[in-house]
Amino acid sequence: MDNFEFYAPTRMIFGKDTHLQVGKIIKEYGFKKVLVHFGGNSAKKSGLLDTVLQALDQEGIAYVTLGGVQANPTLSMARQGIELCKKEGVEMVLAVGGGSVIDAAKAISYALCYEGDVWDFYAGKAQAQKALPVGVVLTLAASGSELSNSSVITNDRTHEKRGYNSDLARPVFAVMNPELTMTLPAYQTACGCCDIIMHTLERYFVQGPSMELTDALAEGLLRTVMAQSLILRDHPDDYDARAEIMWAGSLSHNDLTGLGHCARDFATHRLEHEVSGLYDVAHGAGLTALWGSWARYVYKDCLPRFCRFALHVMNVPEIGSDEAIALKGIEALEAFFASLSMPISLKELGLILSDEDLRTLARMCSHTAKDALGSAKVLHEKDMYTIYKAAYERT
Ligand code: NZQ
Ligand code: ZN
Repeated sequence: MDNFEFYAPTRMIFGKDTHLQVGKIIKEYGFKKVLVHFGGNSAKKSGLLDTVLQALDQEGIAYVTLGGVQANPTLSMARQGIELCKKEGVEMVLAVGGGSVIDAAKAISYALCYEGDVWDFYAGKAQAQKALPVGVVLTLAASGSELSNSSVITNDRTHEKRGYNSDLARPVFAVMNPELTMTLPAYQTACGCCDIIMHTLERYFVQGPSMELTDALAEGLLRTVMAQSLILRDHPDDYDARAEIMWAGSLSHNDLTGLGHCARDFATHRLEHEVSGLYDVAHGAGLTALWGSWARYVYKDCLPRFCRFALHVMNVPEIGSDEAIALKGIEALEAFFASLSMPISLKELGLILSDEDLRTLARMCSHTAKDALGSAKVLHEKDMYTIYKAAYERT
């Protein structure tokens, strides 16, 4: 087992009605003025925004609000938030939303403690030394950003979608009421479930020996998310299934399911970020559109892990060669994605791409990854192109 450090500082307040406590929680920390940051329309429409503002009013906490964060949040939106917070002397950022709002809040929080331009962090030109505290009222179980050290922003001028990781960005607290996710469209619920699965798999398909406890945690999480996703597909108002998925979402991306292993794959994520940076695509759907093509391209180089996944997670019978078992596991996960009405090819995302478009995706992805990425198999630009092409031609 490799050495590891596990840092999970976020206080989780989980369960029914917990969002009503947000004013009291912020007061405990002594913050006097906050930015309430939110997305397009859902938080207003559901009444959540009003409830949160009332909870702040009750505790005498001053606030400014800024909505309009769109899915795959943009740099220009983050800049608006930065200007507003500077002008208003905000002490913390409260993200009311899903991964996009949380990530925008994290970008703002870095920028308020930095003299230079916020994009420096995402372009790999600077490391944050300090950040304003971020708190979360989570409305979508998917990105795991409520506990993760990561934030992903799209530069709307260049269409580069880039992540920046720093423990400074781990939220101080996350209020997680699974009931708040009941207003989600079925498609977003499914996208979220698949993103959660992928965060676990990105830590699972790596080179090296098995890690028994960590693998058992990962496999338990995967089996749970698959079973509960199907319950939500058929019964979207099932509170317990919502709660299981929300809890799994946070654990899938705070690194618990990769501890004891230095390697991470994250190739499917990096390939996907180029797609949702350039096109209007939901992150979870981009992942399922690419995963099978990635898996079929790399599985022979990581055969023991793909075999283990097939047997332990997808319940493939132990019949035939290791390769045959591994392939059956890949087919089974793709079939699962399809059963949630998720795309398993780039065409199913509604994209019409030329060969040049596919090459552009590979070029952008390889340069971001400083030419190579992945652990299950190290991928270079030509490999990325082959995967994009396979994902586009998949029928
Ligand atoms: O904007 P509104 O109107 O709020 O609608 C949102 C949005 O359209 C809607 N929504 C959210 N909660 C809702 C709701 N609709 C009804 N009821 C609710 N309770 O859902 C749509 C998608 O929201 P978004 O926040 O974009 O989704 P998600 O949480 O999947 O976040 C995606 C972003 O996170 C990044 C992705 O790349 C993408 O940019 N990621 C961030 C990570 C991190 N920071 O650790 C890791 C991930 O791998 C991922 O890359
Ligand atoms: Zn993800």
